Amino acid sequence: MSVITVHRSTTSRKPLTLQRLRTMHAQGEKITMLTAYDATFARVLDEAGVDCLLVGDSLGMVLQGQATTVPVTLEDMAYHVRCVARGNRAGWVIGDLPFGSYQESKEQALRSAAVLMQAGAHMVKLEGGGWTTETVRFLTERGIPVCGHLGLTPQSVHALGGWRVQGRDDKAAALLKEHAHALADAGAAMLVLELVPSPLAASIAKELAIPVIGIGAGPDCSGQVLVLHDALGLHEKPARFVRDFLQGSNGIAHAVRRFVDAVKDGSFPDPELHTY
Ligand code: KIV
Repeated sequence: MSVITVHRSTTSRKPLTLQRLRTMHAQGEKITMLTAYDATFARVLDEAGVDCLLVGDSLGMVLQGQATTVPVTLEDMAYHVRCVARGNRAGWVIGDLPFGSYQESKEQALRSAAVLMQAGAHMVKLEGGGWTTETVRFLTERGIPVCGHLGLTPQSVHALGGWRVQGRDDKAAALLKEHAHALADAGAAMLVLELVPSPLAASIAKELAIPVIGIGAGPDCSGQVLVLHDALGLHEKPARFVRDFLQGSNGIAHAVRRFVDAVKDGSFPDPELHTY
């Protein structure tokens, strides 16, 4: 049996903090985020300089082969957060609260968030609009940084009628913006916008003092996130907003560095190719 160790480079960077991420947003320095689910990829992402490592419940689809994120459990999430925390040194680790682990009450959300924080997350992410504000405030007041998630919220994919762009008409756009402000006012320290028209995402990112990270939300967010497997060209039918960074790269670490460079210099996402 061969033993695989998590090799590290000797170069190091300072651990990311919430304050630093906020400053990056304020100063227009793009924030990079990729999903990570295990210690080896966490180490690769960390060494490539990825700012935020998201232990996304997308693991239900890319690791477990499920059709949606709905079947993912809190135990699944805690296991993968622990793995990522072991491989990471300086990245900001975000753990997704899975479906059914926070919707019941703010107390239930606190218990679930505590599990992920004790597993090594620096922040938890939850999906949903206005109805989550009470929970966001409750967690924030208790020392748990929270990232909101609006637009296409995958845990609600059945209610939303599929993987489709959100906030397209004026009424839906105004509501989405209202929810973004409500989350920030409740103390959310970051917001992910998924599958949202670029102009709407741009105006939300401009109006909020917290980092707004886009996925299929155009180039004018504070930063970009991709599912790692998508960024490495492993999706059979990639969405419009995905770019395969492995193509033309000299290995995975190089592909991840190209993602970092492309987000930082603003060349990804391309307004013509990757946006709505
Ligand atoms: O679970 C996940 O990977 C996510 C990203 C798509 C933002 O929430």
